[in-house]
Amino acid sequence: MIQKVRGTRDILPPESRLWVEVEAVAQRVFGGFGYEEIRLPLLEPTELFVRSVGEATDIVGKEMYTFADRKGRSLTLRPEGTAGVARAFIENGLAQRPSPLRLSYLGPMFRYEKMQRGRYRQFGQIGIELLGAATPAADAEVMLALHTFLAELGFDDLVIVLNNLGDPEDRPRFIELLLRELEGRREELCADCQRRWDANPLRILDCKVPRCRELVAGTTPVAEVVSEEARRHVDGVEAALRDLGVAVQRAPRLVRGLDYYLRTVFEVVSPELGEDTVICGGGRYDRLISDLGGPQVPGVGFAIGEDRLIEVLPASFRERVLGRRPVVVLPVGEAAATTLAVVRALAVRGIAAHAEVTGRSLKAGLKWAGKLGARVVVIVGGDELAAGAVVVRDLDRGEQQAVPIAEVADVLERTGEA
Ligand code: HAM
Repeated sequence: MIQKVRGTRDILPPESRLWVEVEAVAQRVFGGFGYEEIRLPLLEPTELFVRSVGEATDIVGKEMYTFADRKGRSLTLRPEGTAGVARAFIENGLAQRPSPLRLSYLGPMFRYEKMQRGRYRQFGQIGIELLGAATPAADAEVMLALHTFLAELGFDDLVIVLNNLGDPEDRPRFIELLLRELEGRREELCADCQRRWDANPLRILDCKVPRCRELVAGTTPVAEVVSEEARRHVDGVEAALRDLGVAVQRAPRLVRGLDYYLRTVFEVVSPELGEDTVICGGGRYDRLISDLGGPQVPGVGFAIGEDRLIEVLPASFRERVLGRRPVVVLPVGEAAATTLAVVRALAVRGIAAHAEVTGRSLKAGLKWAGKLGARVVVIVGGDELAAGAVVVRDLDRGEQQAVPIAEVADVLERTGEA
């Protein structure tokens, strides 16, 4: 038997309904904030991620699905969406459009990661990017959109954690200070952090190894070393969010695994999935587009990990979506075509109906309807059909009535059976 690639998943119905519904809520909420969908390739030139996400990051260093195509060009399955958005912005001359530009996207991303709960090699992201605005209000907007989306799904206890990484000019100063403060303790850091010491010292800050955490806890937070302007920016973001009633918390050691961030970085952590499992990450990236050879256009955005989000969905949302019960339409005698006509009449009104097309008897059909969890069965045939009607049977109440074919959808809509 051929099996799926490790780290990929088959999302089967009815679980897939959760994905469809979550994405519908995302389109509605982010659309409401003015974000329009951009659909980008899953394949990009490898160089795009090396130059944006950064050569020294885990993603580029060890997690990319990179291969040579038949002409020997190095291609990579996208590990994230922001780099592709920046590339498309430059390539399509989107700087010519009214600014700021609000873009959303969703779809699969690929990272060769160690397998564990909530960590996959193909995973879904839903993200938004706001391009062309450098104010604190821009950061506050994307976080408010995120907060609104999560609230619409029924979450009420998720907190946005926020840090200030300062500007790239602040970084050498901070890194020098950090390494000075950790000097003499270098040997006590984990092997990964010892490598990070030279390659990407900022990443030492968010190492999950307990000993590294202890050592880092004694160092000066990056937010204390940043320029006055960067400090004012992130303070302004935080103040705006508090005014809006969005719960935010400072996380002085938060750094994220992508090199393009500056100033604002943020995450949403789910206590349910464990402290290390981040549902959503984002931040500001004012140099990304220019570093890739485009105009000086600032940006801010985030991406939600859809698999993880779905694992921790509030029960109310899950039940509402998974609890939907279909209508089953059963023919009696020679009524196959009319059965399909009834299903069509329901389908175009958005009422999910399943036709019996296997040749079952009425008795077997009712049993099948029970297995599908149907609440209503429409029986097509016999004397009623001769009179242009069908029987609508409520399986929960054990009641039934004859309804003219043309009115079945109305009746089901009225009684809320659909
Ligand atoms: P990221 O933090 O690398 O940021 O990924 C965003 C989210 O994707 C994570 O918070 C997590 O929920 C999910 N995720 C990442 N890796 C995996 C995995 N292996 N399995 C399941 N879920 C995963 C970015 O990708 C940035 N492009 C976000 C952004 C947009 N920043 C600004 N704009």
